[in-house]
Amino acid sequence: MNDNTTPPYRPDFAVQNGQVVPYADATVSIMAPGLTFASTVFEGMRAYWNAEHEQLYILHLHDHLERLQFSMRVIELDNPPTTADFTAQVIACLQANDLREDCYIRVQAYVDDWGEIIATGPVGSSVVCRKRARVEAFTTGKHFAVSSWRRNAEDASPPRIKATANYLNSRLAGLEAKRIGSDGAIILNRDGTVSEGPGGCLFIVREGQLITPPVTAGILESITRRTLLVLAKDMGLDAVERDVGRTELYLAEECLYCGTGQEIVPILSVDGKQIGDGQPAPLTRRLQQSYDDIVRCRNEAYKSWLTPVYAKDGE
Ligand SMILES: Cc1ncc(COP(=O)(O)O)c(C=O)c1O
Repeated sequence: MNDNTTPPYRPDFAVQNGQVVPYADATVSIMAPGLTFASTVFEGMRAYWNAEHEQLYILHLHDHLERLQFSMRVIELDNPPTTADFTAQVIACLQANDLREDCYIRVQAYVDDWGEIIATGPVGSSVVCRKRARVEAFTTGKHFAVSSWRRNAEDASPPRIKATANYLNSRLAGLEAKRIGSDGAIILNRDGTVSEGPGGCLFIVREGQLITPPVTAGILESITRRTLLVLAKDMGLDAVERDVGRTELYLAEECLYCGTGQEIVPILSVDGKQIGDGQPAPLTRRLQQSYDDIVRCRNEAYKSWLTPVYAKDGE
């Protein structure tokens, strides 16, 4: 296994069109509509290593693959792989690379070969996985700024689909954030309320209540966001989905960024205005702790959210 923790990431094996192949052999046509017209949808998942169990657990595999089915249906791909197909391929990919630490998995479906904007096939697919440790900001937090870019709208390039096309908007916001010296961007929708960040959703806390923009605010229906809403309920916390105004970010006692890759990142300031005391805050920390126990299979009650990768004797 090579060290693929820093870019460029090069795992030993990938899965392409259902077959495990050396990573270098997994290629697409330079005229594929997946590339020329962004006719590509994808998923990003994490798997967590539990050293005591000697097991790798994929978090919310089924939910991610069902969201991919939805994305593929919206962009109209011909006879794409099923959730059962992709489930087997994700496990095969992790096993082929013998990954035994925290990692990230990307599953893609695209129009391959050479075709028009409206080509619906031939459909290509791929699964790629690599080591990926927790982001440092999980512990330290990040400073965010509201972007001058607006979120792509539901009636133009719907954020609910996890399509590569939507990530141009994310890229522009991310580049601007970097240019102005911020760690991350918060993107407003056309109505001027908060949607999400380039690769994650947002929660604020006001008077002890967790608040996150609704699924109609121009967001990806984030699985981490949904997880946090379930967790909040199970922890007896008050949580609501409602529109969030820009200046509410400044009033918030706590603010956090969440998504598969980032997990849960405390937001320390927005637009240079300190959130709370400018340190990772208590409720965010509680959610992080609970999340960490769940994803590493230390909390039996949520075991059904995890898919083990390696076969164990007697199981
Ligand atoms: C634009 C965007 N929003 C939200 C999320 C969070 O979604 P999830 O929690 O399903 O990973 C992501 C990341 O995957 C994303 O790219």
